[in-house]
Amino acid sequence: MAKTAVLKIDDKEYPLPVMEGTEGEKAIDTRQLRTASGYIAYDQGYGNTGSCESQITYLDGDNGILRHRGYPIEQLANQSEFVETAWLVIYGSLPTQKQRKDFGQLLRQNSAVEMQMQKILEGFPTSASPMAMLSALVAALPAYYPDLATNNFEKDLKNFDLAAAIAISKIRTFVAMIYRYQKGLPFVFPKQELPFCDNFLHMMFSEPYKDYVPVPEVSRALNLLLLLHADHEQNCSTSTVRMVGSSQANVFASVSAGISALSGPLHGGANMAVMQMLQSIHDEHDDGTRFIAAAKSGSKSNRLMGFGHAVYKNFDPRAKIIGEACDVVLKRLGIDDPLLAIAKNLEQAALKDDYFVSRKLYPNVDFYSGIIMRALGIPMNMFTTMFAIGRTPGWIANWREVAANPKGRIYRPRQIYVGPTKRDYVPISQRG
Ligand code: CMC
Repeated sequence: MAKTAVLKIDDKEYPLPVMEGTEGEKAIDTRQLRTASGYIAYDQGYGNTGSCESQITYLDGDNGILRHRGYPIEQLANQSEFVETAWLVIYGSLPTQKQRKDFGQLLRQNSAVEMQMQKILEGFPTSASPMAMLSALVAALPAYYPDLATNNFEKDLKNFDLAAAIAISKIRTFVAMIYRYQKGLPFVFPKQELPFCDNFLHMMFSEPYKDYVPVPEVSRALNLLLLLHADHEQNCSTSTVRMVGSSQANVFASVSAGISALSGPLHGGANMAVMQMLQSIHDEHDDGTRFIAAAKSGSKSNRLMGFGHAVYKNFDPRAKIIGEACDVVLKRLGIDDPLLAIAKNLEQAALKDDYFVSRKLYPNVDFYSGIIMRALGIPMNMFTTMFAIGRTPGWIANWREVAANPKGRIYRPRQIYVGPTKRDYVPISQRG
Protein backbone atom coordinates (compact mmCIF):
# COMPACT_ATOMS: atom_id res chain seq x y z
CA MET A 1 0.00 0.00 0.00
CA ALA A 2 1.24 3.50 -0.82
CA LYS A 3 2.59 5.32 2.24
CA THR A 4 1.04 8.55 3.42
CA ALA A 5 2.34 11.22 5.79
CA VAL A 6 -0.18 13.10 7.91
CA LEU A 7 0.18 16.76 8.72
CA LYS A 8 -1.85 17.97 11.69
CA ILE A 9 -2.65 21.67 12.03
CA ASP A 10 -4.92 22.55 14.96
CA ASP A 11 -7.39 19.69 14.92
CA LYS A 12 -7.35 19.03 11.22
CA GLU A 13 -5.33 16.32 9.56
CA TYR A 14 -4.03 16.47 6.01
CA PRO A 15 -2.80 13.25 4.38
CA LEU A 16 0.17 13.81 2.08
CA PRO A 17 1.50 11.17 -0.35
CA VAL A 18 5.00 9.82 0.29
CA MET A 19 7.34 9.38 -2.66
CA GLU A 20 10.44 7.23 -2.92
CA GLY A 21 13.23 7.37 -5.49
CA THR A 22 15.08 4.39 -6.97
CA GLU A 23 17.91 4.83 -4.43
CA GLY A 24 15.49 5.02 -1.51
CA GLU A 25 15.35 8.82 -1.21
CA LYS A 26 12.10 9.77 0.47
CA ALA A 27 9.92 12.81 0.03
CA ILE A 28 6.56 14.11 1.15
CA ASP A 29 4.57 15.33 -1.81
CA THR A 30 3.25 18.77 -0.82
CA ARG A 31 1.87 19.74 -4.22
CA GLN A 32 -1.73 19.72 -3.00
CA LEU A 33 -0.95 21.12 0.45
CA ARG A 34 -1.98 24.70 -0.23
CA THR A 35 -5.20 23.75 -2.00
CA ALA A 36 -6.14 21.40 0.82
CA SER A 37 -5.03 23.44 3.82
CA GLY A 38 -4.17 27.00 2.80
CA TYR A 39 -0.57 26.43 3.94
CA ILE A 40 2.57 26.36 1.80
CA ALA A 41 5.85 24.62 2.62
CA TYR A 42 8.51 27.19 3.62
CA ASP A 43 12.09 26.25 2.72
CA GLN A 44 14.31 29.29 2.16
CA GLY A 45 17.09 28.30 -0.27
CA TYR A 46 15.19 25.08 -1.18
CA GLY A 47 17.67 22.99 0.86
CA ASN A 48 14.93 20.56 1.80
CA THR A 49 12.82 20.75 -1.31
CA GLY A 50 12.72 18.32 -4.20
CA SER A 51 11.98 20.54 -7.19
CA CYS A 52 11.76 17.71 -9.72
CA GLU A 53 12.12 14.01 -10.39
CA SER A 54 15.28 13.34 -12.36
CA GLN A 55 17.01 10.32 -13.90
CA ILE A 56 20.36 12.00 -14.49
CA THR A 57 22.48 12.16 -11.34
CA TYR A 58 22.29 10.52 -7.94
CA LEU A 59 24.06 12.24 -5.09
CA ASP A 60 24.24 11.11 -1.47
CA GLY A 61 25.92 13.95 0.38
CA ASP A 62 26.18 12.11 3.70
CA ASN A 63 28.14 9.24 2.20
CA GLY A 64 30.06 11.09 -0.52
CA ILE A 65 28.37 9.23 -3.39
CA LEU A 66 28.01 10.69 -6.88
CA ARG A 67 26.71 8.68 -9.82
CA HIS A 68 25.72 9.74 -13.31
CA ARG A 69 22.96 7.57 -14.77
CA GLY A 70 23.98 4.94 -12.21
CA TYR A 71 27.72 4.96 -12.97
CA PRO A 72 29.98 5.93 -10.02
CA ILE A 73 32.04 9.07 -10.59
CA GLU A 74 35.19 7.15 -9.60
CA GLN A 75 34.68 4.67 -12.47
CA LEU A 76 33.95 7.43 -14.95
CA ALA A 77 37.00 9.40 -13.80
CA ASN A 78 39.23 6.35 -14.23
CA GLN A 79 37.83 4.86 -17.40
CA SER A 80 35.78 7.39 -19.35
CA GLU A 81 36.56 10.73 -20.97
CA PHE A 82 34.67 14.00 -21.07
CA VAL A 83 32.85 13.60 -24.39
CA GLU A 84 31.68 10.07 -23.56
CA THR A 85 30.51 11.17 -20.10
CA ALA A 86 28.73 14.14 -21.70
CA TRP A 87 26.80 11.72 -23.92
CA LEU A 88 26.01 9.53 -20.93
CA VAL A 89 24.74 12.47 -18.88
CA ILE A 90 22.62 13.80 -21.76
CA TYR A 91 21.27 10.60 -23.32
CA GLY A 92 21.18 8.22 -20.35
CA SER A 93 23.45 5.34 -21.40
CA LEU A 94 27.07 4.76 -22.35
CA PRO A 95 27.29 5.41 -26.11
CA THR A 96 27.89 2.59 -28.57
CA GLN A 97 30.99 2.99 -30.72
CA LYS A 98 28.87 4.45 -33.50
CA GLN A 99 27.05 6.87 -31.22
CA ARG A 100 30.35 8.05 -29.75
CA LYS A 101 31.83 8.51 -33.23
CA ASP A 102 28.78 10.39 -34.54
CA PHE A 103 28.69 12.61 -31.46
CA GLY A 104 32.38 13.45 -31.86
CA GLN A 105 31.74 14.26 -35.51
CA LEU A 106 28.81 16.54 -34.66
CA LEU A 107 30.92 18.35 -32.06
CA ARG A 108 33.73 18.83 -34.58
CA GLN A 109 31.35 20.07 -37.28
CA ASN A 110 29.97 22.70 -34.92
CA SER A 111 33.14 23.94 -33.32
CA ALA A 112 33.77 27.07 -35.39
CA VAL A 113 32.20 30.40 -34.50
CA GLU A 114 30.53 32.68 -37.06
CA MET A 115 32.43 35.85 -38.03
CA GLN A 116 29.51 37.98 -36.86
CA MET A 117 29.70 36.41 -33.42
CA GLN A 118 33.38 37.25 -33.26
CA LYS A 119 32.31 40.89 -33.69
CA ILE A 120 30.06 40.60 -30.63
CA LEU A 121 33.07 39.50 -28.62
CA GLU A 122 35.19 42.29 -30.04
CA GLY A 123 32.58 44.78 -28.84
CA PHE A 124 33.41 44.04 -25.21
CA PRO A 125 36.17 45.81 -23.30
CA THR A 126 39.16 43.46 -23.04
CA SER A 127 38.98 43.89 -19.27
CA ALA A 128 35.43 42.44 -19.12
CA SER A 129 34.70 39.42 -16.94
CA PRO A 130 35.12 36.23 -19.02
CA MET A 131 31.91 34.84 -17.50
CA ALA A 132 29.96 37.96 -18.53
CA MET A 133 31.26 37.60 -22.08
CA LEU A 134 30.55 33.87 -22.15
CA SER A 135 26.96 34.16 -20.96
CA ALA A 136 26.34 36.98 -23.47
CA LEU A 137 27.73 34.93 -26.37
CA VAL A 138 25.61 31.92 -25.43
CA ALA A 139 22.54 34.16 -25.02
CA ALA A 140 23.18 35.33 -28.61
CA LEU A 141 23.12 31.79 -30.05
CA PRO A 142 19.32 31.76 -30.65
CA ALA A 143 19.83 34.76 -32.95
CA TYR A 144 22.14 32.63 -35.13
CA TYR A 145 20.17 29.39 -34.87
CA PRO A 146 16.52 30.48 -34.73
CA ASP A 147 15.31 27.11 -36.07
CA LEU A 148 16.87 25.29 -33.13
CA ALA A 149 15.69 27.81 -30.57
CA THR A 150 12.02 28.44 -31.25
CA ASN A 151 10.89 28.49 -27.61
CA ASN A 152 8.53 25.63 -28.42
CA PHE A 153 9.41 22.40 -26.62
CA GLU A 154 8.13 20.10 -29.34
CA LYS A 155 10.06 21.81 -32.14
CA ASP A 156 13.20 22.38 -30.07
CA LEU A 157 13.31 18.74 -28.96
CA LYS A 158 13.23 17.63 -32.61
CA ASN A 159 16.45 19.59 -33.19
CA PHE A 160 17.89 18.81 -29.79
CA ASP A 161 20.91 16.73 -30.89
CA LEU A 162 22.26 19.53 -33.04
CA ALA A 163 21.53 22.24 -30.46
CA ALA A 164 23.28 20.18 -27.75
CA ALA A 165 26.38 19.70 -29.93
CA ILE A 166 26.46 23.41 -30.82
CA ALA A 167 26.24 24.40 -27.16
CA ILE A 168 28.96 22.00 -25.98
CA SER A 169 31.33 22.63 -28.87
CA LYS A 170 30.91 26.38 -29.20
CA ILE A 171 31.07 27.12 -25.48
CA ARG A 172 34.52 25.54 -25.56
CA THR A 173 35.46 27.66 -28.61
CA PHE A 174 34.04 30.82 -27.01
CA VAL A 175 36.21 30.26 -23.93
CA ALA A 176 39.36 29.95 -26.06
CA MET A 177 38.38 33.06 -28.02
CA ILE A 178 37.73 35.06 -24.85
CA TYR A 179 41.17 34.09 -23.57
CA ARG A 180 42.89 35.18 -26.76
CA TYR A 181 40.83 38.35 -27.07
CA GLN A 182 41.85 39.42 -23.58
CA LYS A 183 45.50 38.73 -24.38
CA GLY A 184 45.30 40.64 -27.63
CA LEU A 185 46.09 37.51 -29.67
CA PRO A 186 44.44 36.56 -32.99
CA PHE A 187 41.73 33.87 -32.81
CA VAL A 188 42.77 30.34 -33.77
CA PHE A 189 40.33 28.24 -35.79
CA PRO A 190 39.43 24.78 -34.49
CA LYS A 191 41.02 21.82 -36.27
CA GLN A 192 38.60 19.18 -37.52
CA GLU A 193 40.93 16.28 -36.80
CA LEU A 194 41.63 17.03 -33.14
CA PRO A 195 39.78 15.45 -30.22
CA PHE A 196 37.65 17.77 -28.04
CA CYS A 197 40.23 18.67 -25.36
CA ASP A 198 43.21 18.90 -27.72
CA ASN A 199 41.18 21.16 -29.96
CA PHE A 200 40.54 23.45 -27.02
CA LEU A 201 44.24 23.55 -26.12
CA HIS A 202 45.07 24.18 -29.79
CA MET A 203 42.67 27.16 -29.91
CA MET A 204 44.06 28.49 -26.63
CA PHE A 205 47.79 28.04 -27.03
CA SER A 206 48.78 27.84 -30.71
CA GLU A 207 51.20 30.55 -31.75
CA PRO A 208 51.69 32.14 -35.18
CA TYR A 209 53.37 29.51 -37.41
CA LYS A 210 53.67 27.20 -34.40
CA ASP A 211 50.66 25.02 -33.72
CA TYR A 212 50.10 23.67 -30.25
CA VAL A 213 51.45 20.11 -30.02
CA PRO A 214 49.14 17.88 -27.94
CA VAL A 215 50.70 16.50 -24.77
CA PRO A 216 48.90 13.31 -23.64
CA GLU A 217 49.27 14.14 -19.91
CA VAL A 218 47.78 17.58 -20.43
CA SER A 219 44.85 16.21 -22.50
CA ARG A 220 44.18 13.59 -19.85
CA ALA A 221 44.22 16.14 -17.04
CA LEU A 222 41.86 18.46 -18.91
CA ASN A 223 39.54 15.55 -19.73
CA LEU A 224 39.40 14.62 -16.06
CA LEU A 225 38.78 18.18 -14.95
CA LEU A 226 35.86 18.66 -17.37
CA LEU A 227 34.44 15.20 -16.67
CA LEU A 228 34.36 15.83 -12.93
CA HIS A 229 32.22 18.91 -13.52
CA ALA A 230 29.81 17.31 -16.02
CA ASP A 231 26.75 17.33 -13.77
CA HIS A 232 25.92 17.74 -10.14
CA GLU A 233 22.23 17.31 -9.50
CA GLN A 234 20.13 20.36 -8.56
CA ASN A 235 22.89 22.86 -7.83
CA CYS A 236 22.31 26.61 -8.19
CA SER A 237 23.13 26.90 -11.92
CA THR A 238 21.36 23.67 -12.94
CA SER A 239 18.24 24.65 -11.03
CA THR A 240 18.48 28.00 -12.81
CA VAL A 241 18.60 26.24 -16.18
CA ARG A 242 15.54 24.19 -15.22
CA MET A 243 13.74 27.27 -13.94
CA VAL A 244 14.37 29.26 -17.13
CA GLY A 245 13.68 26.21 -19.32
CA SER A 246 10.37 25.59 -17.57
CA SER A 247 9.00 28.75 -19.21
CA GLN A 248 9.61 26.98 -22.54
CA ALA A 249 12.71 29.11 -23.15
CA ASN A 250 15.13 27.41 -25.55
CA VAL A 251 18.21 25.50 -24.46
CA PHE A 252 20.70 28.29 -25.33
CA ALA A 253 18.79 30.91 -23.33
CA SER A 254 18.52 28.50 -20.40
CA VAL A 255 22.22 27.59 -20.48
CA SER A 256 23.18 31.27 -20.67
CA ALA A 257 21.22 31.86 -17.45
CA GLY A 258 23.05 28.87 -15.92
CA ILE A 259 26.39 30.47 -16.79
CA SER A 260 25.35 33.65 -14.97
CA ALA A 261 24.33 31.64 -11.92
CA LEU A 262 27.65 29.79 -12.00
CA SER A 263 29.65 33.02 -11.90
CA GLY A 264 29.00 33.72 -8.21
CA PRO A 265 31.85 33.07 -5.74
CA LEU A 266 29.76 30.66 -3.66
CA HIS A 267 29.25 28.48 -6.76
CA GLY A 268 31.58 28.23 -9.78
CA GLY A 269 33.45 31.40 -8.90
CA ALA A 270 34.93 29.60 -5.89
CA ASN A 271 37.74 28.06 -7.96
CA MET A 272 39.15 31.54 -8.63
CA ALA A 273 38.67 32.60 -5.03
CA VAL A 274 40.60 29.53 -3.81
CA MET A 275 43.61 30.41 -5.96
CA GLN A 276 43.51 34.06 -4.86
CA MET A 277 43.51 32.83 -1.28
CA LEU A 278 46.42 30.41 -1.83
CA GLN A 279 48.37 33.03 -3.75
CA SER A 280 47.99 35.61 -1.02
CA ILE A 281 49.06 33.08 1.63
CA HIS A 282 52.12 32.44 -0.52
CA ASP A 283 52.88 36.12 -1.12
CA GLU A 284 52.56 36.96 2.57
CA HIS A 285 54.64 33.94 3.65
CA ASP A 286 51.74 33.08 5.93
CA ASP A 287 50.83 29.53 6.95
CA GLY A 288 47.10 30.04 6.40
CA THR A 289 46.35 30.83 10.06
CA ARG A 290 44.96 34.24 9.15
CA PHE A 291 42.48 32.81 6.62
CA ILE A 292 41.37 30.09 8.99
CA ALA A 293 40.83 32.59 11.82
CA ALA A 294 38.89 34.95 9.52
CA ALA A 295 36.77 32.08 8.18
CA LYS A 296 35.69 31.25 11.72
CA SER A 297 34.20 34.72 12.20
CA GLY A 298 30.99 33.53 10.55
CA SER A 299 31.09 36.29 7.91
CA LYS A 300 30.08 35.07 4.45
CA SER A 301 32.78 37.17 2.78
CA ASN A 302 35.57 35.57 4.83
CA ARG A 303 34.75 31.92 4.19
CA LEU A 304 37.53 29.46 3.59
CA MET A 305 37.09 29.12 -0.15
CA GLY A 306 36.95 25.59 -1.54
CA PHE A 307 35.63 24.33 1.78
CA GLY A 308 32.11 23.22 2.63
CA HIS A 309 29.31 22.11 0.42
CA ALA A 310 25.56 22.55 0.43
CA VAL A 311 24.99 18.78 0.20
CA TYR A 312 28.27 16.93 0.90
CA LYS A 313 28.63 16.67 4.64
CA ASN A 314 31.32 14.01 4.78
CA PHE A 315 33.53 14.40 1.74
CA ASP A 316 33.16 15.55 -1.85
CA PRO A 317 34.12 12.53 -4.01
CA ARG A 318 35.21 14.87 -6.80
CA ALA A 319 37.61 16.64 -4.44
CA LYS A 320 39.14 13.31 -3.49
CA ILE A 321 39.74 12.41 -7.15
CA ILE A 322 41.02 15.83 -8.10
CA GLY A 323 43.24 16.13 -5.00
CA GLU A 324 44.95 12.86 -5.92
CA ALA A 325 45.13 13.84 -9.59
CA CYS A 326 46.94 17.08 -8.66
CA ASP A 327 49.99 15.18 -7.46
CA VAL A 328 50.05 12.94 -10.54
CA VAL A 329 49.50 15.75 -13.06
CA LEU A 330 52.11 18.06 -11.56
CA LYS A 331 54.62 15.23 -11.37
CA ARG A 332 53.99 14.16 -14.97
CA LEU A 333 54.35 17.74 -16.16
CA GLY A 334 57.42 18.28 -14.02
CA ILE A 335 55.84 21.21 -12.17
CA ASP A 336 56.62 22.04 -8.58
CA ASP A 337 53.83 24.39 -7.51
CA PRO A 338 54.25 25.88 -4.02
CA LEU A 339 50.49 26.51 -3.92
CA LEU A 340 49.88 22.75 -3.83
CA ALA A 341 51.87 22.43 -0.62
CA ILE A 342 50.03 25.44 0.84
CA ALA A 343 46.67 23.87 -0.10
CA LYS A 344 47.62 20.59 1.55
CA ASN A 345 48.77 22.32 4.74
CA LEU A 346 45.63 24.43 4.83
CA GLU A 347 43.47 21.35 4.36
CA GLN A 348 45.25 19.55 7.21
CA ALA A 349 44.95 22.57 9.52
CA ALA A 350 41.24 23.00 8.79
CA LEU A 351 40.52 19.31 9.19
CA LYS A 352 41.98 19.47 12.72
CA ASP A 353 40.07 22.59 13.67
CA ASP A 354 36.90 22.08 15.66
CA TYR A 355 35.08 24.88 13.79
CA PHE A 356 35.36 22.99 10.49
CA VAL A 357 35.01 19.50 11.96
CA SER A 358 31.84 20.31 13.91
CA ARG A 359 30.25 21.92 10.85
CA LYS A 360 31.32 19.07 8.59
CA LEU A 361 33.26 21.37 6.28
CA TYR A 362 35.61 19.49 3.93
CA PRO A 363 37.42 20.44 0.73
CA ASN A 364 35.11 20.59 -2.28
CA VAL A 365 35.88 20.16 -5.99
CA ASP A 366 37.12 23.73 -6.27
CA PHE A 367 39.83 23.37 -3.64
CA TYR A 368 42.28 21.59 -5.95
CA SER A 369 40.86 22.19 -9.45
CA GLY A 370 42.61 25.58 -9.74
CA ILE A 371 46.02 24.00 -9.18
CA ILE A 372 45.43 21.63 -12.09
CA MET A 373 44.22 24.47 -14.30
CA ARG A 374 47.28 26.52 -13.38
CA ALA A 375 49.47 23.59 -14.35
CA LEU A 376 47.70 23.49 -17.73
CA GLY A 377 48.55 27.16 -18.28
CA ILE A 378 45.00 28.45 -17.83
CA PRO A 379 44.98 31.87 -16.18
CA MET A 380 43.00 32.34 -12.99
CA ASN A 381 40.41 34.70 -14.44
CA MET A 382 39.37 31.92 -16.88
CA PHE A 383 38.84 29.22 -14.23
CA THR A 384 35.08 29.62 -13.91
CA THR A 385 34.66 29.49 -17.68
CA MET A 386 36.40 26.08 -17.57
CA PHE A 387 33.80 24.95 -15.03
CA ALA A 388 31.15 26.16 -17.50
CA ILE A 389 32.58 24.03 -20.34
CA GLY A 390 32.48 21.01 -18.04
CA ARG A 391 28.98 21.65 -16.69
CA THR A 392 27.33 22.28 -20.07
CA PRO A 393 26.29 18.60 -20.58
CA GLY A 394 24.55 18.61 -17.21
CA TRP A 395 22.69 21.82 -17.97
CA ILE A 396 21.61 20.48 -21.37
CA ALA A 397 20.49 17.13 -19.93
CA ASN A 398 18.42 18.91 -17.30
CA TRP A 399 16.88 21.25 -19.87
CA ARG A 400 15.92 18.21 -21.94
CA GLU A 401 14.25 16.55 -18.97
CA VAL A 402 12.19 19.67 -18.38
CA ALA A 403 11.27 20.01 -22.07
CA ALA A 404 10.37 16.32 -22.48
CA ASN A 405 8.20 16.08 -19.37
CA PRO A 406 4.57 16.04 -20.52
CA LYS A 407 3.43 16.80 -16.97
CA GLY A 408 5.95 19.63 -16.46
CA ARG A 409 4.78 22.97 -15.11
CA ILE A 410 6.40 26.37 -15.15
CA TYR A 411 8.60 26.76 -12.04
CA ARG A 412 6.84 29.21 -9.82
CA PRO A 413 7.65 29.05 -6.10
CA ARG A 414 5.57 30.98 -3.61
CA GLN A 415 6.71 33.19 -0.75
CA ILE A 416 5.76 34.38 2.69
CA TYR A 417 5.17 38.09 2.35
CA VAL A 418 6.62 40.04 5.31
CA GLY A 419 6.37 43.60 3.91
CA PRO A 420 3.99 46.42 4.89
CA THR A 421 0.30 45.62 5.02
CA LYS A 422 -2.15 47.61 2.89
CA ARG A 423 -1.68 51.39 3.05
CA ASP A 424 -3.01 54.28 0.98
CA TYR A 425 -1.04 56.15 -1.64
CA VAL A 426 0.07 59.66 -0.59
CA PRO A 427 0.52 62.23 -3.41
CA ILE A 428 4.12 63.53 -3.64
CA SER A 429 3.00 67.09 -2.78
CA GLN A 430 1.87 65.87 0.66
CA ARG A 431 4.98 63.85 1.49
CA GLY A 432 7.21 66.71 2.67
N1 CMC B 1 34.24 28.71 5.61
C1 CMC B 1 33.83 29.01 6.86
N2 CMC B 1 32.61 28.69 7.35
C2 CMC B 1 31.76 28.05 6.52
C3 CMC B 1 32.12 27.70 5.22
C4 CMC B 1 33.42 28.05 4.76
N3 CMC B 1 33.82 27.75 3.53
N4 CMC B 1 31.08 27.06 4.62
C5 CMC B 1 30.11 27.01 5.53
N5 CMC B 1 30.51 27.61 6.69
C6 CMC B 1 29.78 27.70 7.95
C7 CMC B 1 28.56 28.59 7.84
O1 CMC B 1 28.91 29.93 8.15
C8 CMC B 1 27.66 27.96 8.88
O2 CMC B 1 28.12 28.35 10.15
P1 CMC B 1 27.08 28.55 11.39
O3 CMC B 1 26.41 27.21 11.55
O4 CMC B 1 27.94 28.95 12.51
O5 CMC B 1 26.14 29.61 10.93
C9 CMC B 1 27.94 26.49 8.75
O6 CMC B 1 29.26 26.41 8.23
C10 CMC B 1 26.99 25.69 7.89
O7 CMC B 1 27.02 26.21 6.61
P2 CMC B 1 26.09 25.53 5.53
O8 CMC B 1 24.68 25.78 5.90
O9 CMC B 1 26.48 24.11 5.35
O10 CMC B 1 26.53 26.26 4.28
P3 CMC B 1 25.67 26.41 2.99
O11 CMC B 1 25.06 25.11 2.63
O12 CMC B 1 24.77 27.58 3.13
O13 CMC B 1 26.79 26.81 1.95
C11 CMC B 1 28.60 26.67 0.52
C12 CMC B 1 27.47 25.89 1.17
C13 CMC B 1 29.31 25.81 -0.50
C14 CMC B 1 28.00 27.90 -0.22
C15 CMC B 1 29.57 27.14 1.65
O14 CMC B 1 30.14 26.03 2.29
C16 CMC B 1 30.64 28.07 1.13
O15 CMC B 1 30.39 29.28 1.04
N6 CMC B 1 31.85 27.55 0.79
C17 CMC B 1 32.89 28.38 0.24
C18 CMC B 1 32.61 28.62 -1.23
C19 CMC B 1 32.87 27.38 -2.06
O16 CMC B 1 33.90 26.74 -1.92
N7 CMC B 1 31.94 27.11 -2.99
C20 CMC B 1 32.08 26.00 -3.94
C21 CMC B 1 31.05 24.92 -3.72
S1 CMC B 1 31.43 23.42 -4.62
C22 CMC B 1 31.29 23.83 -6.27
C23 CMC B 1 29.90 24.16 -6.64
O17 CMC B 1 29.06 23.26 -6.65
O18 CMC B 1 29.66 25.31 -7.00
